[in-house]
Amino acid sequence: MRIYLDNNATTPLHPAVLEALERSLRDVFGNASSIHKEGQSARRAIEDARESVASLIAAEARDVVFTSGGTESNNAAIFGVAGQDGRHHIVTTAIEHPSVLEPVTELERRGHAVTIVAASRSGVINAGAVIAAIRPETRLVSMMLANNETGVLQPVAEVARVCRERSVHFHCDAVQGAGKVDIDVSALGADTLALSAHKLHAPKGIGALYVRRGLSLDRHILGGAQERRRRAGTENVPLAVAFGVAAEIARDRIDTGALRDALERALLAAGFPIVINGADVPRIPNTSSVTFRGADAEGIVIGLDLSGVAVSTGAACSSGRIEPSHVLLAMGLTPEEARATVRFSLSRFTTVDEIQRTVALLREIVPRCVRQAKEA
Ligand SMILES: Cc1ncc(COP(=O)(O)O)c(C=O)c1O
Repeated sequence: MRIYLDNNATTPLHPAVLEALERSLRDVFGNASSIHKEGQSARRAIEDARESVASLIAAEARDVVFTSGGTESNNAAIFGVAGQDGRHHIVTTAIEHPSVLEPVTELERRGHAVTIVAASRSGVINAGAVIAAIRPETRLVSMMLANNETGVLQPVAEVARVCRERSVHFHCDAVQGAGKVDIDVSALGADTLALSAHKLHAPKGIGALYVRRGLSLDRHILGGAQERRRRAGTENVPLAVAFGVAAEIARDRIDTGALRDALERALLAAGFPIVINGADVPRIPNTSSVTFRGADAEGIVIGLDLSGVAVSTGAACSSGRIEPSHVLLAMGLTPEEARATVRFSLSRFTTVDEIQRTVALLREIVPRCVRQAKEA
């Protein structure tokens, strides 16, 4: 049996999600906009799912828009507000996902001013630094709830409060936080908030964007009147149903923190020359970013893979590229340290035995990768 410890990249389907997906694909084929029985049953299925996704973030269903995933949700929010008034300044952070950084870079190309706030060595964005970057012409602040590579939680509520006072739109990428920490979107203070289903044991290709009541974003996909005119296109009912079931399961959280801590303790006890990134600050409980000093992380990832364990170096989106992770570099790691960093991300299905087997394999693989890195 393989061991899957790359759940921040994506998660396997939960059996109950798969069952709901299959049932929906088979039985609920109607177009949710049609008035006949088939259409009505599709409508009911999608609205039940919306209710369940909204509950995950303590929102009301009508404020949740289904999208094709976290990337679309982030794009929809950022492009949806950036050009809405005469203010053309955007504040974001150096550790955001490319689905935030790329839209912001594109807006900069189109003439917007952009401030990118740096991260601390622990991977935290200083709330004061974000607040200090807000200017009278600031339209948007975009900040993630939890980082995908380190798991470090960011002080979003503090920043959101000031944004509200100054009438600045606050967007939160909560893709990695949802299901791992409690989210109450009102307490958090986000105007818009992005979610993705495939990080929660649901399929890829569906996500959601929370839009605070009364806000209207410039539309990014034009066409039919679906999703209260906020996102055109015939709804993908089975994927929405699957997301709904996954959100329900995610609300009953299983704390992976004890297992993650056991993994880190075992790595330290094994005497590896490691640094656990973000260990001194609050993190989501499933993520461990470990720098194996002097080693080649790619060698570790390949060695583990050949032995039946899936982990990753940095973010999946940047795998296949040689460049070290922009998140780790933003935290002040050297390129060598970033290239020596492995991400372990656990899920509700991870077991004690899997952690023990992974550590045992690392005891063989890491010394080999340190030697090879020295010889290279
Ligand atoms: C923090 C964060 N934001 C956004 C995304 C993009 O989500 P999706 O894969 O659903 O487009 C990811 C996915 O890796 C992520 O980790």
